[in-house]
Amino acid sequence: MTIAEPAAALGREIVAHIDELAAISAEPGVITRVFLTPEHRAAADLLMGWMRDAGMSAAIDAIGNVVGRYEGEQDGLPCLMLGSHYDTVRNAGRWDGPLGVITAIACVGALHRRGRRLPFAIEVVGFADEEGVRFASTLLGSRAVAGTFDARALDSIDRDGITMREALRAFGLDPGAIATAAHAPGAVLGYVELHIEQGPVLEAEGLPVGVVSAISGATRLSVTLTGMAGHAGTVPMALRRDALTGAAECILAIETYCRGHAGLVGTVGQIAAEPGATNVIPGRVGFTMDIRTAGDDRRKAAVGDLTAAIEAAARRRGLEVAITVTHENRTVNCAGWLKAQVAAAVAAEGYAVRELPSGAGHDAMAIADIADMAMIFVRCRGGISHHPDEHAELGDVEAGAKVLLRLIETFSPRDNAR
Ligand code: GLV
Ligand code: MN
Ligand code: MN
Repeated sequence: MTIAEPAAALGREIVAHIDELAAISAEPGVITRVFLTPEHRAAADLLMGWMRDAGMSAAIDAIGNVVGRYEGEQDGLPCLMLGSHYDTVRNAGRWDGPLGVITAIACVGALHRRGRRLPFAIEVVGFADEEGVRFASTLLGSRAVAGTFDARALDSIDRDGITMREALRAFGLDPGAIATAAHAPGAVLGYVELHIEQGPVLEAEGLPVGVVSAISGATRLSVTLTGMAGHAGTVPMALRRDALTGAAECILAIETYCRGHAGLVGTVGQIAAEPGATNVIPGRVGFTMDIRTAGDDRRKAAVGDLTAAIEAAARRRGLEVAITVTHENRTVNCAGWLKAQVAAAVAAEGYAVRELPSGAGHDAMAIADIADMAMIFVRCRGGISHHPDEHAELGDVEAGAKVLLRLIETFSPRDNAR
């Protein structure tokens, strides 16, 4: 067999599995697979089947992560951890998250078929909730693995009023057992996540893969404005305390501020007005904010300025305001030693080594609390992501798989692993 044949076979297997997983959704014709839903469970079962076919043991942990383990030369060795997430945003693309899980499983399958065991174990984790769609707080699966899951999140509610605690029980999990998902720091030699770039850089430069330098931090907030509901026909404009027009002013202020600061991005992705009727002045509005930039100090300063601007707009309009931080992640650098091994694998496969930062969040940010991490980016079409048009070409999927497989086979734990 030439080197190219197994890579082509791996690429075809990965794309077939991406397509099969994409069919598991809350609604036919679109991809929506959020945390702790029946479709989330069906996806977990499918992934566990593929893990077992690839020679791994597989189980669901206490938060809903799917964990596959391929033992090394002896049982019980510390592991190289690989993975990404299997939840999606609503009306998602098929590649964000699943590509990293499925490629890692395919690489382990290739080792297994050759009977190859390594001086370390491999764990492949399909993280349960990276997107944070259902309960606003993100990285729930990887934080549980890192032992940093915040138990207060169990009381958060989804849009149907179901608490995370109730949702875990309905999924068959014990909310009191989440600590058991945590891995001891010494048990993980390093973490490598393969992911589509979700941006346009690799495509613009004609490169199939990239080496991530750092993952930008993010702050997510939830804002509630409360005014006074009233009759749309009788309350004169000057006497209204309309929470929705107040929110509109705040949202435009966020846009103007972020446009005025290079590299800063701010998004209001969710909004709900109550009571929600054509002929009633909105008395209460909730909306979310997502603020990101490279550099934690710059992000924190922006969050401070925007909070002050929202409070000022609310005061001017006679609205009450409540602002809560629902999620915060610092910028995390990829570990130099592990990034160098990824770069060496990229070069050995004949690709130019291009380092680039990630503006999107990844499970690697949470795992960095217990292990050094690195990431491989795979080019995607048009930089499109969080959209059904998200797409990666078969050749680029193959390139990513070749780099990951080489990385696994050449992986050398850092001598003084922390
Ligand atoms: C995850 O996709 C995020 O960066 O929000
Ligand atoms: Mn992702
Ligand atoms: Mn995503």
